Amino acid sequence: MTIEQYIDALPKAELHLHIEGTFEPELMFEMAQRNQVSIPYASVEEVKQAYQFHNLQSFLDIYYAGASVLLHEQDFYDLAMAYFQRCYEDNVVHTEIFFDPQTHTHRGVSFGVVINGLSKACQDAKKQYGISSELIMCFLRHLPQDDAIKTLEQAKPFLSLIKGVGLDSSELGFPPELFSDVFQQAKELGLMRVAHAGEEGPASYVWGALDALDVSRIDHGVRSQEDDVLMQRLVDEQIPLTVCPLSNLALKVVNHLKHHNLKKMLDKGVCVTINSDDPAYFGGYMNANFYQITHALNLSKDDVKQLCLNSFKASSLSQEEKTYWYERIEAVSQHD
Ligand code: HPA
Ligand code: ZN
Repeated sequence: MTIEQYIDALPKAELHLHIEGTFEPELMFEMAQRNQVSIPYASVEEVKQAYQFHNLQSFLDIYYAGASVLLHEQDFYDLAMAYFQRCYEDNVVHTEIFFDPQTHTHRGVSFGVVINGLSKACQDAKKQYGISSELIMCFLRHLPQDDAIKTLEQAKPFLSLIKGVGLDSSELGFPPELFSDVFQQAKELGLMRVAHAGEEGPASYVWGALDALDVSRIDHGVRSQEDDVLMQRLVDEQIPLTVCPLSNLALKVVNHLKHHNLKKMLDKGVCVTINSDDPAYFGGYMNANFYQITHALNLSKDDVKQLCLNSFKASSLSQEEKTYWYERIEAVSQHD
């Protein structure tokens, strides 16, 4: 098997994926028309040309603008089903999907519309493709904690549909400690907790996410490498990092994939995983991320296998389900 065939054949879990970031320009255009929402682009080509980013904020501005065409339950359903189709094509068998409720509720779209559309898609993805999934609601860190607390209140009637909470949006200047109360409330409700940290922000934000928010995974976390004590903690406690190579390249967290620290962290024993973050904006879904980082860093088949094993280990699946997927990964690698 070539390394690409090997990547294709291995089952994978995706743990860092914003559903609003899977909005392909064609679907965005179609939805803008059917909902009669105007977007500042004349054609699909123009949308694609706008996708030149120089940092996280320049991306977020466009990402929030794109989300403005989502109005009805059906829109959220269609968006998620289009993503599940990509999962199926890339052999992603389990996915934990982020959504940003505040991006929608602030435009007058109710929490129920968002969660019902997404969770119906999750049910249908299980039926149509056999893909398991969870939903994680992220708080926008550029908004005050009070707004996050209100959002958690709005989520209460739907808690059976929500696995956990996360923290995303503009990182610099918004350290995790600002959200310790709402994360404490989420913990008391029995929700899993994750947070973006150490993407553009310093290693101290990763400490903050672990200590003030009590998260079980760090999203991105690539700047953890700047702090040896933190690195040792990530290894000792096997705290997973959900790394997103093509996102890091597009947002200039790294200037070339050859300079990405994924392999260094993997070799040190950090539980690193590969994910696509906002694939419609950053140039590729799961397997594209695998292919490109594999070539840039000259990853071996053993590295690729480890990354896939890590994706299940770091997931919220039961031990029994994890064992099932570990065995499937073994079977693919024996066959090679
Ligand atoms: N970082 C912060 N916020 C985000 C991201 C990200 O990578 N993607 C979508 N919202
Ligand atoms: Zn992200």
